[in-house]
Amino acid sequence: MSILYSKCVLGSLTLQNHLVMAPMTRNRATGNIPNALMAEYYTQRATAGLIITEGTSPSPNGLGYSRIPGIFSPAQVEGWKRITDAVHAQGVKMFVQLMHCGRIAHPLNLPAGARVLAPSAVAAGGEIYTDAEGMKPHPVPQAMTGEEIKTTIAEYANAAKNAMTAGFDGVELHSANGYLLEQFIRPNTNQRTDGYGGPIENRARFVLEVAEAVMGAIGRDKVGIRLSPFGVFNDMPSYDSMEADYTYLAQQLNARGLVYIHLVDHSSMGAPPVPDAIKATFRKLFKRTLILSGGYDARRAESDLTAGKCDLIAVGRPFLANPDLVARWRTNAALNAPDMSTFYRPGAKGYTDYPALKK
Ligand SMILES: Cc1cc2nc3c(=O)[nH]c(=O)nc-3n(C[C@H](O)[C@H](O)[C@H](O)COP(=O)(O)O)c2cc1C
Repeated sequence: MSILYSKCVLGSLTLQNHLVMAPMTRNRATGNIPNALMAEYYTQRATAGLIITEGTSPSPNGLGYSRIPGIFSPAQVEGWKRITDAVHAQGVKMFVQLMHCGRIAHPLNLPAGARVLAPSAVAAGGEIYTDAEGMKPHPVPQAMTGEEIKTTIAEYANAAKNAMTAGFDGVELHSANGYLLEQFIRPNTNQRTDGYGGPIENRARFVLEVAEAVMGAIGRDKVGIRLSPFGVFNDMPSYDSMEADYTYLAQQLNARGLVYIHLVDHSSMGAPPVPDAIKATFRKLFKRTLILSGGYDARRAESDLTAGKCDLIAVGRPFLANPDLVARWRTNAALNAPDMSTFYRPGAKGYTDYPALKK
């Protein structure tokens, strides 16, 4: 008897199985507006229990990469509505991932008037792609003022309300992989001397205030969060109190009662391993739904669910390359391999043209 393919409960929702499509940025949203091609992509993959969208910006300032969608303008809300309608018609639930890129951005990728903001004026190492001029060094971001912190929290709450108008079942706060929320948590990017910097009680404050504002706007059953303890992506080096900091976050998020925590593990992509102990700590301290992700195949997914390590399993690249992943996993069919060269390029190639199994 498989747990993976059986129904389950997430807050007040019933999911048709325990499989989640992980959030994946695909850069097909020309003009930052969700479109018909994206609707086709998500509908093709509407066999999961829950789909989490690609990172979607709550504000113009958060649009760090080229061609990523937003959810702050009426046209964006309308575009997403067409997508949630199509996905819901297949019986699948859908959360939008709210991703404010913070310092992982370039002015050339931002609309007029938007700015690269971060907790502190510390540039990420390395370069970022721009449509206009190719690869560019990461810029030095502007340290957010107290007023800008308030405005940004309000932008998240507003985006969450927009998500409800657009028909989403909930939102996932992207507090992983080196983007704005994680930039507040980590000491290398947060060198503030006010109430948002210093000890973890202060570095966690922005994330918790965003969570509270969003929960206040749409209800706690509709708000999950993604975290990457021990993650180093986007120039976020490891540091001594990592485990203690994330233990504190697990406790605080549990106290606030978000519907889920979604943990990232990119060791299958060459990142340093995430200790099993920290996953177990989250499992112990967080009483609602825990989602694990990273490098899963059907067998490992079933085994971790059976062992009670988590409640749901999120899968990225296999879903990207296999629109009918659930059918393939269920029948042990061969999988299409993901084509990295088309991950972030505009157009249908490598996006909606991965073949499904012949019926
Ligand atoms: C093309 C691509 C885009 C991604 N974009 C995002 C994103 O927008 N937000 C996020 O939280 N993770 C993102 N990820 C990470 C995935 O959600 C997932 O954690 C990762 O692919 C590992 O899972 P997998 O081994 O099942 O692929 C992305 C991964 C890929 C391959």
